[in-house]
Amino acid sequence: MKYLFETEAKNYEDFASGRVLYNRKGATAFPVRLGSEIVQRCLAHIRRVGRHGPFTLYDPCCGGAYLLTTIALLHGKEFALLMASDIDGEMLELARDNLSLLTLSGMERRIAQINDDLRLYGKDSHREALASAERIKELVKRLCHLTVRCWQADILKPGILEAVPPGTVDIVITDVPYGSIASWSQEVQDPISVMLGNLRPVLSDQAVVALVTPNRQRFRTEGYSKLEGFRIGKRAVVLLARND
Ligand SMILES: C[S@@+](CC[C@H](N)C(=O)[O-])C[C@H]1O[C@@H](n2cnc3c(N)ncnc32)[C@H](O)[C@@H]1O
Repeated sequence: MKYLFETEAKNYEDFASGRVLYNRKGATAFPVRLGSEIVQRCLAHIRRVGRHGPFTLYDPCCGGAYLLTTIALLHGKEFALLMASDIDGEMLELARDNLSLLTLSGMERRIAQINDDLRLYGKDSHREALASAERIKELVKRLCHLTVRCWQADILKPGILEAVPPGTVDIVITDVPYGSIASWSQEVQDPISVMLGNLRPVLSDQAVVALVTPNRQRFRTEGYSKLEGFRIGKRAVVLLARND
């Protein structure tokens, strides 16, 4: 796969899970370069049809919100509202912690925690984390305009997004459950197409939905047209537009 936007491999060590961003057992991270590439492709599609931001971005299987948080740190100026939901209450605690890092108060709290660890244990890893946190804090200073909503929801349940105003979500990016670490909550045939059906009413005109799935997974995309797709390692990424 050829990167169209993230053409240079940069050093994303500052965003390493567990360093400044929070981590917990069972949580999955996501390659920062790939997340950044996906969001820039989504933005390019939505701008091509004449839409201008700031946009609303939603991840309906947000897990610990690692993907959403790193996208916001790198591209937060494009968005006014970030929405994050997941079925798993424990994962949502992690998501709330990570999303709190998008505020100056959240970053200051995190810096104080790392400073406490440094005083207690004096490890180089804590000194490095502190330096990363100071750099991330500079990024966060540009994000005062962002609103974040995070709630518990089973995205496979009919009508689950009734409380979200119709037509308000511009971009969905989600790394769907796969394998044993993060599996779908229910035995539903073709869960991705069920999720796509539930998302449809909340999508704005010309909204873009980016799905990251395991390479060989097949699913129906009724009500959507394919904009583009690519494979990278064991993952497949597909970008869809809602049909009118
Ligand atoms: C691969 S993980 C997502 C990780 C996330 N991208 C991150 O950066 O932290 C998939 C997530 O889907 C969630 N999930 C499984 N079934 C779900 C459902 N029916 N509705 C919403 N979320 C679900 C799991 O709890 C898990 O957190």
